[in-house]
Amino acid sequence: MCLSASTHSKRSGPRRVPASSFSPSSRGRLTDRDRDRFQGETLFARIGRAVCRAGCLPRKELFESWETAKRVRRLFRGGRIVDLCGGHGLLAQVLLLLDSSSPAALVADTALPPSHAAVYAALADAWPRLRDRVAFVTASIEDVHLEVDDLVVSIHACGALTDRVLARAIAARARVAVVPCCQDAASCDTGRLDGWLDAATAIDVQRASRLAQARYRVWTQTIPPAITPQNRLLIGQPIERAR
Ligand SMILES: C[S@@+](CC[C@H](N)C(=O)[O-])C[C@H]1O[C@@H](n2cnc3c(N)ncnc32)[C@H](O)[C@@H]1O
Repeated sequence: MCLSASTHSKRSGPRRVPASSFSPSSRGRLTDRDRDRFQGETLFARIGRAVCRAGCLPRKELFESWETAKRVRRLFRGGRIVDLCGGHGLLAQVLLLLDSSSPAALVADTALPPSHAAVYAALADAWPRLRDRVAFVTASIEDVHLEVDDLVVSIHACGALTDRVLARAIAARARVAVVPCCQDAASCDTGRLDGWLDAATAIDVQRASRLAQARYRVWTQTIPPAITPQNRLLIGQPIERAR
């Protein structure tokens, strides 16, 4: 990925802009002005340029989705993608691009951002195979029907929403990957571990433990903290699916 860019100083000619000047944690919208940040023909660079064309995606969502999708795809292939609390649904779309053996994706959110259509249109322009394979529904976590072959994903389902995503995946015996945020000791279970661990860590440890108790194989990973401090990635697969 190309995070650095050169610009031309009026006085001294070409100047390297330090990579840190383009922080991946920014909530600023990616626009055509950022296209040169994504040079080359890597999949990431091409996705970056496509979302710049859409002109509406918060920058950190690109980096969060990419880093999460990459890690999930190292473990899981195939299956319908179900992106709960999906927002723009970029995670679902990157997962499809990384593995075309997934037939389709469903993005569900109670308040889909209106700009989700522009992001999808820009990606489908660049990758026509995405057309007709991504559905967006205004729906709550509990309203989405899940199948055992689904891959359920969710980035930053705030607070107890992540617990509801995990509960739905467990009930369906589906594979699941979440990046929790806004852990809240009042509405989430710390397992009384918050005497030793900060409450957010205690809550995520409990979530990993809940998956294991539900007979899931569990992976605990992180995405780069430079993108978000809420960077724990919890992945689970029913043990009966393990090869
Ligand atoms: C912090 S945003 C994360 C969006 C997206 N996953 C991302 O990474 O950018 C949380 C999303 O959850 C959605 N949401 C809130 N309650 C929900 C519910 N009960 N069911 C589905 N989505 C919900 C909100 O509308 C919002 O889009």
